[in-house]
Amino acid sequence: MQVNGEPYRAIWLDHEGAKIHVINQTVLPFRFELQTLDTLSDVTLAIRDMVVRGAPLIGAAAACGLYLAADTNPEDDHLQQARRELLGARPTAVNLRWALDQMLPRLLEVPPPSRAGVARSIAQQICDDDVATNSAIGDHGLVVIAEKARHKNGEPLNILTHCNAGWLATVDWGTALSPIFKAHDAGIAVHVWVDETRPRNQGASLTAWELAAHGIPHTVIADNAGGHLMQHGQVDLCIVGSDRTTRTGDVCNKIGTYLKALAAHDNDVPFYAALPSSTIDWTVHNGVKEIPIEERPAEELTHISGVDTDNRVTRIRLTPEASPAANPAFDVTPRHLVSGIITERGIALASEPALLDLFPEQQAERVLPGSISTP
Ligand code: MRU
Repeated sequence: MQVNGEPYRAIWLDHEGAKIHVINQTVLPFRFELQTLDTLSDVTLAIRDMVVRGAPLIGAAAACGLYLAADTNPEDDHLQQARRELLGARPTAVNLRWALDQMLPRLLEVPPPSRAGVARSIAQQICDDDVATNSAIGDHGLVVIAEKARHKNGEPLNILTHCNAGWLATVDWGTALSPIFKAHDAGIAVHVWVDETRPRNQGASLTAWELAAHGIPHTVIADNAGGHLMQHGQVDLCIVGSDRTTRTGDVCNKIGTYLKALAAHDNDVPFYAALPSSTIDWTVHNGVKEIPIEERPAEELTHISGVDTDNRVTRIRLTPEASPAANPAFDVTPRHLVSGIITERGIALASEPALLDLFPEQQAERVLPGSISTP
């Protein structure tokens, strides 16, 4: 996507050296700042501190981190240690594990002196594939938007989204926002309700920034406003992203997504999740019981940053010092609340048979490492 007329991806490998470049998402929308990551620890910290965030981007970053680790020391022990370090950075988005599973076995197959070169080309491939995948998600989601827009007689189609599942959350295009970019570019009138997405405000800070840069009409709303807007016919469609979706179609996404899905269900508003197949955890059946939910620092809730009237970034506390706060970062929307799952291969109902129709190669149940198989 373009920033001030220049094309950018959210992450890219340096053309020459063993370095990774990212957009620092912690300072948007106030500053557009690039950051260079030179080591495995730089990448781990960037993922943990959310300099890069969003499930597909976390996966791409992990692949780049393993490449930097292989460049420093390609021996088996070091690469296994790098895998553990990266996996510990954020627990919910399964793309991180997916990317490492794509890479590490292939690296261990080649002799150590060749590993950095192989790791670089796999990391580059993961980044390039992510762009193509998200573009395909956009094409399939565009069909849903175009169909709904036909009933609006030229009035804008009102789409509600939660968190940031735009190009900043991927290598490019985004997942939930990809169909919206494509619809706008195709001349379909859309208007986006942007949930602010407390506590870190990815909607207010990142989704709003992306939509404004692309000239897409949008309005930021408090997280609590969606249900009211739906009751008054002001939301035609919800599209969200996902951090991990089960083989049965339960969708884990940013905290608050579940409440939006409940409100959408009660008001007959279609509720779609857009996600690449790298976000589907084929080892998990029951999202509520089995998906680990990241608990983030309470400070993300008790404090907030913004610019003051002199345009200086300021951080302030919102809560009484004596009040504890809890910050679960994700929730699970059960499949019966999801109208459809938009993937790079097409749209599936949120069910195991429908997902397996699109991804027949996943028919066989995966056996979890360490699990005991019964005779
Ligand atoms: O905590 P974050 O900002 O990494 O959470 C991001 C989300 O929940 C996104 O909706 C999800 O990763 C999908 S991104 C295409």
